[in-house]
Amino acid sequence: MTTRRSCIGVFDSGFGGLTVLKALLRLIPHADYVYFGDTARLPYGSKSVDTVAKYAVGAAHYLEQHRAQMLVIACNTATALALDQITQAAHVPVVGVVDPGADRAAGTSEKKKVVVIGTEATVSSHAYLKALEARGAHAREKACPLFVPLVEEGWIEHPVTEQVARIYLKEAFADGFDNADVLLLGCTHYPLIKPVLQRVAPAHVSIVDSADATADAVGRLVRRIPLPDPSQSERRKLPRITFFATDSVEKFRRLGPQFLGLPVEDVQHVDLKE
Ligand code: DGL
Repeated sequence: MTTRRSCIGVFDSGFGGLTVLKALLRLIPHADYVYFGDTARLPYGSKSVDTVAKYAVGAAHYLEQHRAQMLVIACNTATALALDQITQAAHVPVVGVVDPGADRAAGTSEKKKVVVIGTEATVSSHAYLKALEARGAHAREKACPLFVPLVEEGWIEHPVTEQVARIYLKEAFADGFDNADVLLLGCTHYPLIKPVLQRVAPAHVSIVDSADATADAVGRLVRRIPLPDPSQSERRKLPRITFFATDSVEKFRRLGPQFLGLPVEDVQHVDLKE
């Protein structure tokens, strides 16, 4: 008898979490996915803890009601500000992006000195700083608020983005952090500008992407918890992915593919009441 495939819920403030879904699909292609993008209320990166926690808990419940047997909080801001509240409110295992990203960055850095870039809210929470210090690494946090709008504008390989990156990274890799050897991408949008960041960062710097590190952590969890055995579950080659968006379905279909690297088809509109 075949069982239904396991279903992983992925939550983000909007489109950016599709970079995490992309990493998950590469690593765990035998699961189905439900993705919630809170596009009507983004950006989260400039919002308060209470607001982000309220929105994120609502979305987590919605994903649970739509078959999610595990939740991946792809949004760095939501993880940094509200992972505890989401975990307490959820009835399934929850994985955020901060711990996996910090694990990988601390493990990669020989100098134990890491520069983390993220939104204003992520940086103000010091979640990455605390996680890195707990792993024996010094951290410099740098908010890069212009990157999210530049990426959403599609200005990926663009002189303006490169110039902005040059200014941010010059400030970050200074004053005692000139010899930091890891740049940790603490925001869903930054993997798209990784080539620009690699060009602009000092030559000795390795880039660690919290999206990839999180996919690895989810892969380990999937092996540990009793989700349906892939060999016994429905025989379909491709995962079924359902997208829920709180703003325009058409816009989600249009912008999604540049983050996911795949067509974004089954998008449903959701209206979460306050
Ligand atoms: N998803 C957010 C993050 O990773 C970036 C976009 C936003 O500010 O909502 O921090």
